[in-house]
Amino acid sequence: MENIRVHDKQFKIYISQADIQKRVAEVAAAIKEDYKGLNPLFIGILNGSFIFAADLFRNLTIPAEISFIKLASYKGTSSTGNVVTAIGMEEDLHGRHVILLEDIIDTGKTLHAFLPEILHRQPASIKIATFLTKPQALQYPVTADYSCFNIDNKFVIGYGLDYDKLGRNLPALYILDEDQ
Ligand code: XMP
Ligand code: MG
Repeated sequence: MENIRVHDKQFKIYISQADIQKRVAEVAAAIKEDYKGLNPLFIGILNGSFIFAADLFRNLTIPAEISFIKLASYKGTSSTGNVVTAIGMEEDLHGRHVILLEDIIDTGKTLHAFLPEILHRQPASIKIATFLTKPQALQYPVTADYSCFNIDNKFVIGYGLDYDKLGRNLPALYILDEDQ
């Protein structure tokens, strides 16, 4: 499938299923080297990261744990600014080597607001692994330690990412086709 329609928009193929699988395996291999003997705790941020998290975790052949959270954002005080808090965080992060799993870092706003909450729980270390990064969209000082692909500053769907709830089950990545 080269072109697909979701709701009112046209998307075209951007990264193939084979290229995604190859790159996710490479990133898993890098993480495996870096975290040998550390029993890392992966925290997948729902909903978007669930496919990436599953494929990455399956490729990781060292002892490791995984858990999932949802993020909720609300307006804090003028000193705290926008606050992003975790729903369903049952894990004790104290002393753990934590790797946050994201589908995409776009402006960086979400992770920038959420990282203080993670740091507050005193993990031994904290890193970010993201499936996608949009370098041209970044507005906050957030850096991914592991990123599978840098992409253009356009809306994408597939491999967990949605357009108004549809498209998450596409095995490849599709980009908005503005010529259509
Ligand atoms: P920020 O700007 O906070 O955005 O880094 C992170 C969240 O925004 C969503 N997002 C997208 N979802 N296609 C999507 O399906 C996109 O191109 C896209 N860009 C941002 C996503 O939920 C991500 O976690
Ligand atoms: Mg979404």
